[in-house]
Amino acid sequence: MTLFNTCFRALVNIAVIIISIIFLFRINITPAIVMIAFILVYSPIIALLLKKQITLQEQYVNARQKALGIINDSISNIFGIKIIGNILNEFKYKLTPAITRWKDWDKKTRQFDAYFVDNADTLLVTIMVAVQIYLLSYLFKSGQISPGGFAFVAMVTLNLHSVLDSFLENLLFNINPAIATAKASFSFINVTKDTLDSTNATPLSNVRGDIKFENVTFSYSGSETEVLKQLSVHIEPSQRIGIVGTSGAGKTTFVKCLLRYFDVKSGRVLVDDQPINTIQQESLRANISVIPQDITMFHRSILENLQLAKYDASLDEIKDACKKARVHDDIIRMPQGYDSIVGERGVKVSGGQRQRIAIARAILKNAPILILDEATSALDTPTEKLIQESLNDMLETNKATTIVIAHRLSTLLHMDRILVIEHGKIIEDGSHQALLKLNGAYKSLWDSQVGGFL
Ligand SMILES: Nc1ncnc2c1ncn2[C@@H]1O[C@H](COP(=O)(O)OP(=O)(O)O)[C@@H](O)[C@H]1O
Ligand SMILES: [Mg+2]
Repeated sequence: MTLFNTCFRALVNIAVIIISIIFLFRINITPAIVMIAFILVYSPIIALLLKKQITLQEQYVNARQKALGIINDSISNIFGIKIIGNILNEFKYKLTPAITRWKDWDKKTRQFDAYFVDNADTLLVTIMVAVQIYLLSYLFKSGQISPGGFAFVAMVTLNLHSVLDSFLENLLFNINPAIATAKASFSFINVTKDTLDSTNATPLSNVRGDIKFENVTFSYSGSETEVLKQLSVHIEPSQRIGIVGTSGAGKTTFVKCLLRYFDVKSGRVLVDDQPINTIQQESLRANISVIPQDITMFHRSILENLQLAKYDASLDEIKDACKKARVHDDIIRMPQGYDSIVGERGVKVSGGQRQRIAIARAILKNAPILILDEATSALDTPTEKLIQESLNDMLETNKATTIVIAHRLSTLLHMDRILVIEHGKIIEDGSHQALLKLNGAYKSLWDSQVGGFL
């Protein structure tokens, strides 16, 4: 039943009680006063119990949401858990306790309903009915009420029990749980306060790909640590930028701020001189392609996974992009070619293939800004070489402003400019040659890698 129907039914119940009392007054004032006195005692006691019940319901809803979250998490990470070989422990330490807590709160709530709310209700109503019947017989005997009046008051009194029952049942099983769920969901929404479009946000059009960070300071919510500190940089249209820095320096955070996954604490981020918090988010992200280290693949066909980048792409266009990304041959060797279904979270597609599919997606999307965030770091050297070739092809043919975050400096040799980020700041900025001459952080990184990777 919808909440609207439920509330409507509760209102009808209240109306029935009020109308009954009005009629009682017309027949005889004493039973009417008894009824009002009963309501005055009954309502606050039941209200108190119902308030307590809501807090129990809230605990129950929280426990349920946590348990479902863990189930969801365990299932979607089953592959990782299997690899670690800890599936039994995952059940033992995470899943089972969460489900037990869920069941416990369910039991507590039900017990509270049965023991307290139900019994209090029965006790109070029984006392009221007894008093009313006793009073009626007295009034009847002393001739203060007619037989018809007697029958009416008796009927109203007995009927009140069923009206109250249905009212309470409604509150306990429909309205209270709905309030508890709404409260729990609301607190969840509050926790993950999202970045929203301002009402006058505008879309981006004819993007040149100019990117500016002006004194940007950023920390993740709930943390004091400034991950980006007064960071300023200007990346011109079609420039190719490499970013290096130790892990945890803030490189991925830099990208997330550009995509406006989070709002910055102070300073501004601009694309084509437009502050990104005045751009419609959909439009901002439609103009940026990102190839991350972990590629998301859906449990759909390869073709559908490619169409994510461009829903109206023709099959020829998609095949062409896959050829450029050097993944076409891999796909046609799969059992159903482009119609092969990708396993749960893409387990049947190797890491290298996923990266090339991501490149094919970026080629299809053809966005004016392209970002690679350690896209090839997790791959073995031969696979990385293959991907590097396809990337270089892509970079040669498109005019996108490109940001490549990489561990291996050799992959950044063709970049126009390299930024070295440390502790949320750009500490060096210049071409490969210029940075080598600086004899600083970049030079020492270069010296430490030169033997191994060139
Ligand atoms: N979602 C997050 N919440 C809180 N801290 C985070 C989050 N993501 C990253 N961090 C922290 O921010 C810092 C920078 O992270 P990141 O930008 O991912 O570094 P990089 O990409 O350079 O390795 C790290 O100290 C990391 O622990
Ligand atoms: Mg990173």
